Amino acid sequence: MTAPTRIVSIDHRSWENAPRVDEAASPVAELEEGKVLFFPHLRFELSAAETALLDPALVDPKRKNISLNATTGKLTGVAVEDERRDAIGALVRRYYETTRRFLDRLLPHYAAHLHTPTTSLRLHRIGTWKMSWRKDDTRLHVDAFPSRPVGEQRILRVFNNINPHGDTRLWRVGEAFDTLSARYLPQMPPYRPGMAWLLHKLHITKSRSAYDHFMLQLHDRMKADADYQRNGQQESIEFPPGSTWICFSDQTPHAAMTGQFMLEQTYLLPVSAMTHPELSPQRVLERQVAAAH
Ligand SMILES: [Fe+2]
Repeated sequence: MTAPTRIVSIDHRSWENAPRVDEAASPVAELEEGKVLFFPHLRFELSAAETALLDPALVDPKRKNISLNATTGKLTGVAVEDERRDAIGALVRRYYETTRRFLDRLLPHYAAHLHTPTTSLRLHRIGTWKMSWRKDDTRLHVDAFPSRPVGEQRILRVFNNINPHGDTRLWRVGEAFDTLSARYLPQMPPYRPGMAWLLHKLHITKSRSAYDHFMLQLHDRMKADADYQRNGQQESIEFPPGSTWICFSDQTPHAAMTGQFMLEQTYLLPVSAMTHPELSPQRVLERQVAAAH
């Protein structure tokens, strides 16, 4: 028997107002269950001048993507210093502002709590940017980053396919977080707080919680597990140009298989701001660890 889909399709076409209840019954509940909200016709329109910026040569060769910290205004990863740099900055900022307005309407419960916005412009075709298996996002994973411990924060992301040539972005989406973590928990080495202290002292990382430690382990073990990658519960979904999708990427196993040209907006959200904090990976893991001892 195939598992029910974890993709919720919402036929809503405007950034400027919330979906009606008949279009999207309970977006917050569905996100918190780890589902992907998919808006097939929520297009982020690019001008001709902006479309001309869709060129991988504009990305700093040392970086995977161009990114904007909207709080400080710092733009990183742009390879050129001419007027195209300002145009890229304006495009990325417009995506940040548009998605922010939309999230405030779609998820009003979160509006006062979303923080640390990071916007990313991804110009490389998937598979053309050389990387280690650990950074290979064509393998199913949940998001966890060595340089960015999150502690009691969730990772919420808004993706948009801006490909001007009709190329879809193909994802695989995996199972619910509790079954995923129950599969890997027995393999995990015990957490050693002393190591986090040492890394902090050496300025290698900001303070890393037991949760961050676990999530990095989970991320790596999923990606290194060929059997899970092949046979783990999963479904494929094509995101066409002009579509938007939203998920908690720390919770929803995902793999980006094909595609080129995407905008992505990240926010952090405190677990305490969720309508059902007990569904967070933080609380799921606490329950599973307590039950194992
Ligand atoms: Fe990811």
